[in-house]
Amino acid sequence: MKMSLETIKVGMSVGQDLYTESGQLITPNNTLVTPELLAKLKKFKISCVEMNPDGLEDQLDVNIFDIRNTPGFKSFQSESAEAKESLTSSLDKILQDDPDNIHIDMVKNLSTLLYESNKTNLNLIDMVYSMHEYSDTIYTHSVNVGMIASHLGHWLNLPDDDIKLLVTCGLFHDIGKLLIPKEILDKPGKLTPEEYKIMQSHTTKGFELLNQFDDIDYRVKKVALLHHERCDGTGYPMHFGSNELDKYSKIIAIADAYEAMTSERSYREPICPFTVVNYFEKEGLHKFETKYVLKFINKILNSYLHTKVLLSNGKEATVIMINRNIKSRPLVKIDDGEFLDLAVTPEISIVKMIS
Ligand SMILES: [Fe+2]
Repeated sequence: MKMSLETIKVGMSVGQDLYTESGQLITPNNTLVTPELLAKLKKFKISCVEMNPDGLEDQLDVNIFDIRNTPGFKSFQSESAEAKESLTSSLDKILQDDPDNIHIDMVKNLSTLLYESNKTNLNLIDMVYSMHEYSDTIYTHSVNVGMIASHLGHWLNLPDDDIKLLVTCGLFHDIGKLLIPKEILDKPGKLTPEEYKIMQSHTTKGFELLNQFDDIDYRVKKVALLHHERCDGTGYPMHFGSNELDKYSKIIAIADAYEAMTSERSYREPICPFTVVNYFEKEGLHKFETKYVLKFINKILNSYLHTKVLLSNGKEATVIMINRNIKSRPLVKIDDGEFLDLAVTPEISIVKMIS
């Protein structure tokens, strides 16, 4: 099917070998369309391309401006002062609910984002508000991912500008979910393969949505597209490997996975951080950037030193020392005074954090 350049979307598949006028190969048949390829086609003034019919295009037929036509969004635009207040108070609620985990830079960055009145920020505020209206779960998750990512940025000694950018990347990484039907988004049971495919398209849809605005940082757009990619190539939608992913996408991927697992969902209790660390230790070292994930595990676990936990044998204990080799199985002190090294007692594990 021949398509004009304007209608070709990220995630589609090119259906021909494409050459420049002088006969130089631009891209071979069956290449997935990336933002970079779109830019290249534009540069070489390619106006029309034969595309494969089996790309992601059928998932991209939602009008990205649908959200802007919702009553909530319209009322927000006409009453922006009130909307800002509502957004601020919901941020306050998050601060009150979880005061120990608040990163002050995150709050500062959000405040800057909310109150600086240039055009980009207004667009971004519109989208944060839409997120808040459409789904509290997505909104809270996104704010948390921004916070976790900014922590990780600090731990990796990234410059301040990178940390600020990570907060914005966290806030908008899942923006494409606003374009996923509610019945799929909030489905309590397992998604069908077809529904899962639609859910996965929040990455390409998010990119397309943000890409409508020339003045939004391109790295934020890329994170929306690439935050479900994995370093071993097992992610989606582009199946990129480590070399093709930037640090922002890699950091948000870790923060996103950690937040998703440790938060409560309608269909399950929050997963204990030690269980999540166990997952990162077992599978995460290949899937995520190893040096980032190791730093993340170390810092997260150190923050749980001296906290109370519930063990699978029903006893309560305090975390005393993180085991260097099996970080998810620390030395604990049971309330009756006995020490227990979980690294050598595989039959007992931490099931819940108590304080
Ligand atoms: Fe996502």
